[in-house]
Amino acid sequence: MAITTRTDLERLDREDPLAAFRDEFFLPDGIIYLDGNSLGAMPREAAQRARQVVEKEWAIGLIGSMNTAGWYALPVTLGRKIAALVGAKPNEVVLTDSTGINLYKVLAAALQMQPERRVIVMEGSNFPTNNYMVQGLVAQLGDGYTIRFAEADEIMAAIDEDVAAICITHVHYKTGNILDMAAITERAHSVGAAAVWDLCHSAGAMPVDLNGCNVDFAVACTYKYLNGGPGSPALLFAAERHHGEYLQPLTGWFGHAEPFAFERDYRPAHDVRQMLSGTQPVVSLSLAEIGIDIMLRADLQAIREKSMRMTDLFIELVEQRCGDHNIALLSPRQAERRGSQVSLYHEEGYPIVRAMHDRGVICDYRAPGNMRFGFAPLYIRYVDVWDAVDRLQDVLQTGAWKKPEYRERAAVT
Ligand SMILES: Cc1ncc(COP(=O)(O)O)c(C=O)c1O
Repeated sequence: MAITTRTDLERLDREDPLAAFRDEFFLPDGIIYLDGNSLGAMPREAAQRARQVVEKEWAIGLIGSMNTAGWYALPVTLGRKIAALVGAKPNEVVLTDSTGINLYKVLAAALQMQPERRVIVMEGSNFPTNNYMVQGLVAQLGDGYTIRFAEADEIMAAIDEDVAAICITHVHYKTGNILDMAAITERAHSVGAAAVWDLCHSAGAMPVDLNGCNVDFAVACTYKYLNGGPGSPALLFAAERHHGEYLQPLTGWFGHAEPFAFERDYRPAHDVRQMLSGTQPVVSLSLAEIGIDIMLRADLQAIREKSMRMTDLFIELVEQRCGDHNIALLSPRQAERRGSQVSLYHEEGYPIVRAMHDRGVICDYRAPGNMRFGFAPLYIRYVDVWDAVDRLQDVLQTGAWKKPEYRERAAVT
């Protein structure tokens, strides 16, 4: 294999059709930000939007902004926009609440549509909040509901006629492994089960085709590859064919057919608004719109191609330059099977990540031993791949990670 040089990567940056997007983001000087898979970078325009929403819409418009600034409709208007990024119809998506809360709502709705069945299939190694949320739901439902945990290669076999719903994450948060949404959904439907997907690590990182795969319900956060800002409200997808059929359990007034009729009893909206529960975080929603608008101007196929190329290069360079340091690749080697991150295992992963931070490379750590390097194609350059590996090699060769203070765990790793 030809040895890649930094000059080769400078050339790739010059030819990159997405290169201009980088200027739309604020990135601190000297920082290589490889953590967009955790929290996306800030679009510059978000700062202006924040001032506008706080100083004009809130300070001056006051409650009138619910109507005049479109606050009330934001979950739906942003849902209509974001739908295009995940292969959904505009009327199938709302932006609201957190991923976990949305998962709770959609899974409860899916189970209620399968009243004879009691089993939910999940990948146990999946992001824990999904397990925790579903465990909470199952405890509340009682009545024999159980979770059948299955790892990636066991999922197909775990789906049988006892299964009410599968609840699966498209791209694995630790390894970046991509599961076959079309095949798993088809298998679920073939036994009469509903398919619920979590798109946290795929929305905005690659083309996703919810309707092409016939998915029933889906959720995704917007603070990673969609650059919506810290804690920005999550996407919730409910296939149109189910509208009017489901009832999610958090039956607040925003999901009522006529919230401002102030009726005594709950009467569900017969469209995706039924998935809303209450007053929405308007400031967060307003900022999320900026990231979504940027993403809508980008070509998702070009994003995917750049992401595969960057992660391939990162793996190649790590193996060439850091190969003697007991590092193992945890992500799939084949780019088609890998999301927009590379995970490397090292026993001392945590202090290594801390030493990388001190050298200006922001990556993160997922216990045990997993160092995650995320490559968000809208603002990461090919030369950043080179420079990050350069610094990793330096940290490993000099043993810089051995400083005692790097062992002290921060609350968020
Ligand atoms: C796959 C997946 N699901 C859910 C979440 C988090 O959910 P929430 O936004 O509710 O905290 C994450 C967070 O990184 C995740 O990776």
